Amino acid sequence: MRFHIQGQKKLTGTIHVSGAKNAILPIIAATTLTNKTCIIDNVPRISDVDTMLEILRSVGGSVAWTGEHQLTISNKDLELQPLDTKLVKRLRASVLFLGPFLARFQSFSLPEPGGCIIGNRPLDSHLEGLRALGCIWERTPQSYEVSHSGLVGADVVLREASVTATENIVMAACAARGTTRIINAASEPHVQDLIAFLIKMGADISGGGTSTITVNGSNSLGGAQHTVIPDPIDAGTYIILGIASKSKITVTDIRLDHLDVVLETLRAMGAEFDRLERSIIIHQTGVLKSEKIETRIYPGIPTDLQPLFGVLATQAHGTSFIHETLFESRLGYLSELEKMGASVLISDAHRAYVTGPTPLNGRNIECRDLRAGASLVVAALIASGETSIENAQILDRGYEKIDEHLAQIGASIIREDSAN
Ligand code: EPZ
Repeated sequence: MRFHIQGQKKLTGTIHVSGAKNAILPIIAATTLTNKTCIIDNVPRISDVDTMLEILRSVGGSVAWTGEHQLTISNKDLELQPLDTKLVKRLRASVLFLGPFLARFQSFSLPEPGGCIIGNRPLDSHLEGLRALGCIWERTPQSYEVSHSGLVGADVVLREASVTATENIVMAACAARGTTRIINAASEPHVQDLIAFLIKMGADISGGGTSTITVNGSNSLGGAQHTVIPDPIDAGTYIILGIASKSKITVTDIRLDHLDVVLETLRAMGAEFDRLERSIIIHQTGVLKSEKIETRIYPGIPTDLQPLFGVLATQAHGTSFIHETLFESRLGYLSELEKMGASVLISDAHRAYVTGPTPLNGRNIECRDLRAGASLVVAALIASGETSIENAQILDRGYEKIDEHLAQIGASIIREDSAN
């Protein structure tokens, strides 16, 4: 599928932010920790959610959309089946079935997960942590064979504050006998939202949002009703779109406290916006100044917004330094921006310099991963002429109906399915 975008259209109006992709994905996995019904609201209609639900259904989970953004899930009939390799390979988040399945099954095989090609995404922090709880694992060329004879709480020290590793270990610890402490845990908003959901299910967890999480395991968890937090990356994407295109748009349904460092950095670059309780009202920004953009684990600038800061830097006066400290292959989008006229110097796998402002011209470019794709859409909206973005279906993995959202504020964007 490709998007055809006519640039430099006047954008105005309001964009509503969806529920957080990286919160709903672990929450779907967490529903397998109970046989009771769970009802989840503010679920984004994105293809990563569809894939996780397909995996759940493939092992007997019963899933229904009981509202446009509401899921009702019951796993009382869950039974172990070999997981579909094709489905598991579609996204990284399939790794999140590891922890809760260990809580439910004595042994199973997890095919190698897939996901955005943005760097070597090791699972060792997951597997070492689960080993501490009594899990035995063996890696085969295509899968991980895991088993245990009873999970027992333990101290787990993460060498990296890995988001999904923290989530997997928290979920397994909920079913372990005794207390688990996770040291150097991730504290991202979506980790906190998963923990809030688990506590509603009856889990005894403290320290969510800090670097030390303590879980007192219990025999069984109950059902729960939960509303997923707004997606900070969705919000950041549309806020940066408004600033880069010098538009007067409002981005609403936001948790502003999840974006403090992002908003402070944008303000330091000269962006002009008002902060309301759950909205950002963007004014036509005058001169943008270059900035040092260094991605960090939460609460720093999230790596998922690095490509959006990269395209913004092409419109800022001076040379911005982009330092992607987490992933080693997440600067590829800059060469696509270069095709459109950006002035880029990539110094190594983690660092690049972007000098602006430079006019961007419509080109045929290619989406390589989800957030890189978002930066190319922003570039296309501010470029002169038409831009075609190949492989744009990747955007549907994490942005709900992005073309419809953008058309509603005046963008000229046509979705051309590859079939025709
Ligand atoms: C999660 O991936 C997200 N995915 C990613 O979002 C996000 O980019 C990433 O966290 C980082 O925030 C989901 O939640 C489903 P990691 P995950 O294990 O868990 C290095 C998107 O677009 N690292 O936290 O696989 C680590 O070695 C996706 O929504 C450090 O260097 O990520 C790995 O290379 C893409 N130091 C990378 O970061 C640390 O302290 C990500 O690791 C922690 C991690």
